[in-house]
Amino acid sequence: MSKTQNLMIAVSKGRILAESLPLLAGLDIRPLEDPALTRKLILETTQPGIKLVIVRATDVPTYVEYGAADMGIVGKDVLLEYGGKGLYEPLDLKIARCRMVLAGPKKEQQINRRLRVATKYTRTTRDYFATQGKQVEIIKLYGSMELAPILGLADRIVDLVDTGNTLKANGLVPLETITDISSRLIVNTAAMKMKHEQIKPMLERLARQVGQ
Ligand code: ATP
Ligand code: PRP
Repeated sequence: MSKTQNLMIAVSKGRILAESLPLLAGLDIRPLEDPALTRKLILETTQPGIKLVIVRATDVPTYVEYGAADMGIVGKDVLLEYGGKGLYEPLDLKIARCRMVLAGPKKEQQINRRLRVATKYTRTTRDYFATQGKQVEIIKLYGSMELAPILGLADRIVDLVDTGNTLKANGLVPLETITDISSRLIVNTAAMKMKHEQIKPMLERLARQVGQ
């Protein structure tokens, strides 16, 4: 790696963090403390000057767009919802892969009104139905979307599916795939210019690691 400047990398906590650590280790970036054990939110790494900041998935694009972090690792689902323009998205890291789907009850009653769709992905859902010319009522939830059809809150949900176990356990079936999801590397536009010498070889090494 060339000249080391200070570099802050924002990583979504949870499953993306777990899958990001081996990729970062491939760049010789290893947190000095175990993120699963420490309460610290900013972690020093084996590369002097390079730090990891562990934040909620939905906050990663905000930290990177405003330059509080130079780079970030975040799901495409979050990026689609964020919709910001002030970010580079140079690499599909191919981790935390799943699908965003429209799902509904296995056995459905007839619906004689506008379809109700519960989701935390309101923007992506609105765009999806708009491209089909369909008007639906979107109900914003913050988690456990699978509950909505069971309790009669909504007719459909838009959520992420991997194994399909969560849908199945709640009597739901996938109806349409909206998009494939994986985690992306994002880079602050100013950092891409100012820290290019440092960031470019990292991007190249990561691209090789993920087979691009
Ligand atoms: P928060 O707790 O901040 O609300 P969250 O519950 O969405 O976030 P995670 O469940 O760790 O956090 O998911 C973070 C990211 O992991 C998602 O944005 C998505 O890109 C990916 N992801 C979510 N569910 C799955 C899944 N079942 N399989 C693979 N990847 C997933
Ligand atoms: C995600 C998603 C689904 C589940 C799908 O939830 O929101 O509920 O995974 O995975 P599966 O198809 O393999 O069952 P997560 O486990 O992240 O819980 P949360 O979103 O409620 O935090």
